[in-house]
Amino acid sequence: MSSIIDGKQLAETIKEEIAAEVKILKEQGHKIPHLAAVLVGANPASQVYVRNKVRSCEQVGFESTLIRKDDSITEEELLEIIHELNTDEDVDGFIVQLPLPNHINEENITLAIDPKKDVDGFHPMNFGRMAQGLPSYLPATPFGIMQMLDRYNIETEGKTCVVIGRSNIVGTPISILLSRKAKPGNATVILCHSRTKNLQEYTLKADIIVAAIGRANFVTADMVKEGAVIIDVGINRVDDATRKRGYRLAGDVDYAGVEAKSSMITPVPGGVGPMTVTSLLMNTLKACKGEVYS
Ligand code: GUN
Repeated sequence: MSSIIDGKQLAETIKEEIAAEVKILKEQGHKIPHLAAVLVGANPASQVYVRNKVRSCEQVGFESTLIRKDDSITEEELLEIIHELNTDEDVDGFIVQLPLPNHINEENITLAIDPKKDVDGFHPMNFGRMAQGLPSYLPATPFGIMQMLDRYNIETEGKTCVVIGRSNIVGTPISILLSRKAKPGNATVILCHSRTKNLQEYTLKADIIVAAIGRANFVTADMVKEGAVIIDVGINRVDDATRKRGYRLAGDVDYAGVEAKSSMITPVPGGVGPMTVTSLLMNTLKACKGEVYS
């Protein structure tokens, strides 16, 4: 029987800590952290995510600015907005919510963001600094996972960690962070992906599994070693006629089956998801205090 790694609760605790720090900044007459978010188009999931980010800013006492643009915006117009945010001294950090419409090159947009304000940690400058162990903004999901491991005192040193999925925003960065000479870190990391042969051979060796594949219930009990720690990054919509909205959320891990074998597990929803917003808030606070780039 597994114990739950409660991301929802931990995210609330961290938000309270950030709010307390903002209160002190305010009392001492310092600048209040200010996050801006750019949302292009009407992607339903993106609208939910951005609304949640803005609401979280309000909850901790940050200033926030939401810039909404129609799908028809050109790449040049979006680059102009980025330039304005790069030079706006009141804005400490900003994000451009992805995905963008097909006619806009996401790489050009990511590269245009000043690394000092790149609180998503997507710019290659921040990615490279992360890989070299230099101060950087960590991308939201890997940062959230590291926070969970840290706050729940989950030992990673010398452990075998299997990461499944090699995306730029989750699998690849978390594999780097877990292997860094740091705490949490110092793990032996195996990065598995769609071309991995005999995946189960690796997962059965894992003390910690990070599942970031994007396929519902992909990791099953027969793939998990007794007592393993399971971090489930998946947020998959599964058709469910019994729900009013017609679907339910499922992780990349078959929770019902795996829960009996693992020692600790993140639920979906309420696990890794809520931690991503706190990562963004922590990065914005760092940006405001000049902790990453001075
Ligand atoms: N789309 C999905 N996740 C993210 C994220 O963390 N940041 C941005 N900007 N877009 C996303």
